[in-house]
Amino acid sequence: MRLIPDLAAARFAPRRYRPGGIGNWSGHLPFAYGLVAALRPAVIVELGVHYGESYFGFCQSVDENAVPAVCYAVDTWTGEWQAGFYGENVFQDVESHNRLYYAPFSQLLRCTFDEALPRFADGTIDLLHIDGLHTYEAVAHDFHAWLPKVKAGGVVLLHDIVVRSPEFDVWKLWEEIAPRFPSFEFHHSLGLGVIRIGEAPLPEEPLLRLLFDSYREAEQLRRYYALLADVLEYRARLQEQRFHTSDAVCVKVYGCGPAGYEERTSVSTPIETGRWRRLTLGLPGGSGHGPVRLDPCETPAVVDLAEIQIRRASDGAVLWRCDSASGFDGLQPSRDLAILDRGETLHCFSHGFDAQMTLPPLANAAPGDALLVDLWINVEKELSRLIPVLEGSPAEPSAPEASLRERVEALARDNAALRADLERVRREQETLASEVRALALQNDRTDEPPDIAPA
Ligand SMILES: C[S@@+](CC[C@H](N)C(=O)[O-])C[C@H]1O[C@@H](n2cnc3c(N)ncnc32)[C@H](O)[C@@H]1O
Repeated sequence: MRLIPDLAAARFAPRRYRPGGIGNWSGHLPFAYGLVAALRPAVIVELGVHYGESYFGFCQSVDENAVPAVCYAVDTWTGEWQAGFYGENVFQDVESHNRLYYAPFSQLLRCTFDEALPRFADGTIDLLHIDGLHTYEAVAHDFHAWLPKVKAGGVVLLHDIVVRSPEFDVWKLWEEIAPRFPSFEFHHSLGLGVIRIGEAPLPEEPLLRLLFDSYREAEQLRRYYALLADVLEYRARLQEQRFHTSDAVCVKVYGCGPAGYEERTSVSTPIETGRWRRLTLGLPGGSGHGPVRLDPCETPAVVDLAEIQIRRASDGAVLWRCDSASGFDGLQPSRDLAILDRGETLHCFSHGFDAQMTLPPLANAAPGDALLVDLWINVEKELSRLIPVLEGSPAEPSAPEASLRERVEALARDNAALRADLERVRREQETLASEVRALALQNDRTDEPPDIAPA
């Protein structure tokens, strides 16, 4: 028994997992990643992209394994009756992700599969993934129309080969074509068929050999990728569970476009509270080049920032940064965020549910630049930490600090008044109790039988 050689896939952490809450393809991501690393295709084409879970799996492997490929994603981005019809937001989301991570080698072709066909010469595609409409007529048409475009030695993937429900007939096409080519089938995640086209000699690449030249290890290979898929799913669920059950908060950054700060131009990530984290949030190109806004949490919390940095994604150039050495100047907190100290860290208190901090405008950014926002941050929801901070607060607090102090002082006054009331009630209660005791005593005496003098 040979060892499965695909360690790249075992280490793979997808940037895009279950986008839009759809995870039909998630289970094949480790294989997609490993296949690209092994095949090293020059041209990758996907038919049927939707949110791009599969497509960006290929792209991430191209990126991380330095594969000199160009990738094309073909879709109308309107949906159809099986995937469901969807709105413009899906294309915008895919477009942003593509521009942020894969712009140098990946192109989105927004048209029908038939319209895209003439753009590719025969025998030029190394890896073709077909995942459009799943009726027999549609998938058979797509397969036969695109087959001549695939290079000898190229690979075609077909999703949903094990689905047996009305109008999902990829399995029928698969039964016809699989015996005609060297092929392999995965049964998990709705099934993925893999076929190798043409007569080219099979390279000495271990994964390709296992796929197309070995029947003994087929089951082991299937189990290996199904297991990696389970690991990804388990990790995702664990992360989700941690977020919901722990004290996690969401850190969010906004690009400032012509319409100001919009959800469309924001990215966010959940973080665990109570420990220092370094994170990078990517703002897609076109998010605007006005001042970036940071929303460090959406809840009352103590927020410490040791570093904020903005880089241009295309070349990594630092466009702006601040830390304890440079000072934390030029930051504009919103009403819900008080800056308490600008020493070793930028020490802040979010005393509402909409804490925001606007960073200075960027001098050297163009509107189309994708940006990377690096943060070194600790968010603490344990509010008892606030007390020593307030005790040592500076003599001349800034406006938000003053308002914060006023609020705390007002609370302290309310508290003292309540204590005094409580004390008064207690004293009244004691007085009443002693009056009741005295009355009872008197009563006892009156009830006693009168002394009868001896006759
Ligand atoms: C099942 S989804 C693709 C799922 C995707 N591969 C993933 O990883 O989640 C099918 C997509 O194919 C597109 N589509 C179907 N038939 C098409 C055609 N003939 N031309 C262009 N797009 C098409 C739909 O718009 C839809 O977004």
